[in-house]
Amino acid sequence: MAPAPKLRIALLGLGRLGQIRARILAFQQPRIELVAVCDTKPGSADWAAANLPPSVKYFADSEDCMKNGGAEAILISTATATHAPLICQAFDLNLHVMCEKPISVDVITTVEVLEKAASKPHLKFLVPFSRRYDESYRATKAMVENGNLGNIHAVETACIDQQDPTGFFVTFSEQSGGIFMDMGVHDIDIGRYFLNVKDGLTNPRKQVIRVIAMGQQAVYGDLKKFGDCDNGWGMVEFANGKVLTTHLGRTLRNGYEGATRVCGTKQHAIIGGNSNINRIEIRDEYGVRTATTPDAFMLYDKSFINDLAEFAASVLDDAPLTCYPEDAYEAGKICAALQHSFRTGMPVYFDEAGLPILQTLKSVVQAIGHSNGVENEVNGH
Ligand SMILES: NC(=O)c1ccc[n+]([C@@H]2O[C@H](COP(=O)([O-])OP(=O)(O)OC[C@H]3O[C@@H](n4cnc5c(N)ncnc54)[C@H](O)[C@@H]3O)[C@@H](O)[C@H]2O)c1
Repeated sequence: MAPAPKLRIALLGLGRLGQIRARILAFQQPRIELVAVCDTKPGSADWAAANLPPSVKYFADSEDCMKNGGAEAILISTATATHAPLICQAFDLNLHVMCEKPISVDVITTVEVLEKAASKPHLKFLVPFSRRYDESYRATKAMVENGNLGNIHAVETACIDQQDPTGFFVTFSEQSGGIFMDMGVHDIDIGRYFLNVKDGLTNPRKQVIRVIAMGQQAVYGDLKKFGDCDNGWGMVEFANGKVLTTHLGRTLRNGYEGATRVCGTKQHAIIGGNSNINRIEIRDEYGVRTATTPDAFMLYDKSFINDLAEFAASVLDDAPLTCYPEDAYEAGKICAALQHSFRTGMPVYFDEAGLPILQTLKSVVQAIGHSNGVENEVNGH
């Protein structure tokens, strides 16, 4: 019997996440063959040679890799600013695309990418959000759908990174779009996932009424110069009346914590209320202690396997995806609005086209001044 066909994938980016992805692609995906990898960073070829099967070709140039790597699909795990051009280039070369979040940190570029994807309907496009591929989140979604929790009226999330003494993300902040975009996009997505935000809308384009955000530089003061914070709080009021609140942080001392509370009228479900690394409790002179997961890569380790398996099944069997580019777009708009709200100190409302109205205090004052002037003229003053 002929061996079952495998999806031939090339991986772009061998950074923190890319190295995890490379090992999963090479050793933990029975339906995928990793044919090529690419990273522009010196030393990447050595890492690939030492850690991946010899059949995997290394490229230092992404275009060369996409054209000559022998792949029919790519996984983009490069720096965020490169995602949009690489996605478009891959579609032009007729490759299926899976790309880490976010598509882009700005809404206009995201729309351009979605238009490009729509022009290639025969090609698959997946931007996976880790929590949707986590088994506890999936089980909670099933409880929501079968009505166990009652009417879901709110979701509260917290996503707090372990404090990093190197402050790596401070310089990263300039390109990442800020904490609400870089980190919060997962929280916004999971809120939308549980709150069924399109249900009962007369205008399905307008899914959000308003957002408001605030934040602090509790430890990393330098974030201020990038319009960013190390602890941020966001509130989103959806057009169907549901509410999402989120606390995003980078200053926790014990490890990484990612928790979601789904509030229903019959039950609340809390996922990851204690982000333990395992089920061991130490009992000693300090009391009862458990160890916390160090980072999101470990807390959601299975997600990075499950999403790739879904992508392979989608290309090989035309099986449905569970996360759509539209979700990345909707979450991206909300994150851009939250980051703007934090930077300006103003709530951000959404218009009838579903776009955030990104005003500054100055523009609002000018508009009020203008309308007062108009009113005065009308009143003959
Ligand atoms: N849970 C998640 O969904 C999740 C978690 C972490 C990171 N991410 C996303 O994954 C992406 C990568 O994150 P990371 O932490 O691994 O970043 P990183 O900075 O550690 O790695 C990025 C790598 O991309 C390489 N690179 C940049 N431009 C390139 C190009 N044009 N061609 C080839 N290689 C290129 C860099 O040399 C670097 O090695 C980011 O967009 C991030 O937002 C998603």
